[in-house]
Amino acid sequence: VTQQSPGPLAGLTVVDLGQLIAGPMVATILGDFGARVIKVEQPGRPDPLRVMYQREGIGVWSKSSDRNKLPITLNVKTREGLAILKQLVSGADVLVENFLPGTLERLGLGQTELDELNSSLVVARVSGWGQTGPKSTQRGYGRLGEAASGFANLNGTPDGPPSHSAASLGDTAAAIWTAFGVMVALRHRDATGQGQVVDMGMPEGLMRMLEQQIPVLDQLGWCLSRMGNENPANVTVNVYKTADDRYFSVSAATPRTQRALLDLVGLPADHPLGTVERAAQDRPAFHAHMAAWMSERTLAEVQELFHAAGTTGTPVLSADSIIDDPHFLAREMVVTVPDDDLGSVRMAGVVPRLTRTPGRIISSGRGSGSANIEVLGPDGLGLSLDELDQLRSKGVL
Ligand SMILES: CC(C)(COP(=O)(O)OP(=O)(O)OC[C@H]1O[C@@H](n2cnc3c(N)ncnc32)[C@H](O)[C@@H]1OP(=O)(O)O)[C@@H](O)C(=O)NCCC(=O)NCCS
Repeated sequence: VTQQSPGPLAGLTVVDLGQLIAGPMVATILGDFGARVIKVEQPGRPDPLRVMYQREGIGVWSKSSDRNKLPITLNVKTREGLAILKQLVSGADVLVENFLPGTLERLGLGQTELDELNSSLVVARVSGWGQTGPKSTQRGYGRLGEAASGFANLNGTPDGPPSHSAASLGDTAAAIWTAFGVMVALRHRDATGQGQVVDMGMPEGLMRMLEQQIPVLDQLGWCLSRMGNENPANVTVNVYKTADDRYFSVSAATPRTQRALLDLVGLPADHPLGTVERAAQDRPAFHAHMAAWMSERTLAEVQELFHAAGTTGTPVLSADSIIDDPHFLAREMVVTVPDDDLGSVRMAGVVPRLTRTPGRIISSGRGSGSANIEVLGPDGLGLSLDELDQLRSKGVL
């Protein structure tokens, strides 16, 4: 199901020099809402994400990560390539990159040049450690951001090693915050005509999201540590195994949902574990009680009972049940997108849902350079087909 509306960001042009996740996802998010995204790749050296999870030689991850994008190839280390990039940037609203700081400058697109080309440009720069500070000259990846932000230290069981995130949270969090920064900067640009740089270091999105860790250390002297699926601030949270060997995740955090949970599992207020405060004083006994209750019921029974009692939990789902889950289909969280290479590809839908001006997916990810003619040719930048052929034979495209 692809949305036909042009999207609220229609009219904006984004030049995406990103690779892998953190940079490209900024542009993908903007493209989901209608921005025209030109994805620039080095000829012969495509985005490394393209080779991940291949079917018949075609990477299926990039079908989602490059959706709605116009991929062009351009060797920006050549004179002609740089001139073309400069032309694209002068007509763009947003430039996205996630190189090592200094790379853009070395290519000839430092702040002075960018200001000359387009003083209202918003430049989104995602990097390992940010554009300033002692570590800014070091390379980085989302995982390093997870490790350095405090996230990995808090993720995992107390007796196991720190754990990273399957959602590439270092990268994806950086991308989401950067996309937000771009929208804030565009609002300022619309009011004043001035562009600016959105400068995002890989650990910073997660540090902001782990907002409790610094005040808790500062004020309580408590350096939080990992507790598996428990929550140090709330006892009525954990994951338990059901009678049919499935997992059910419980999370109750308001007085009403917590009371409903305790009553449901046979812990009325006069039981020694029957209040949140008393349960918190004996976490092992409380979780043992919960685990025993869960082990006597199937996943379906637990789900039904939780809903009926007005408390809160869900089965832990995996992709094979998510893909045709009626709720997620109804929410268009799993959508089927036609694809030239693979017929169609199911992927996660546009997030978030806007009621008046929804986003849309007009194309799944296309091959490297497949939009060269569209973007650079007679109907785009205005190069003739002969000129494009010459540039191709010189290795510029
Ligand atoms: C990801 C990272 C570690 C990769 O480092 P790397 O392997 O050394 O470098 P890259 O693969 O990015 O290659 C960069 C080079 O390609 C060049 N290049 C990139 N696009 C190009 C193009 N279209 N045409 C010509 N050259 C290009 C760059 O100018 C750079 O040249 P240099 O060797 O003169 O510096 C580094 O870019 C980085 O720290 N990025 C910031 C953090 C980040 O986003 N990490 C990835 C998260 S998903």
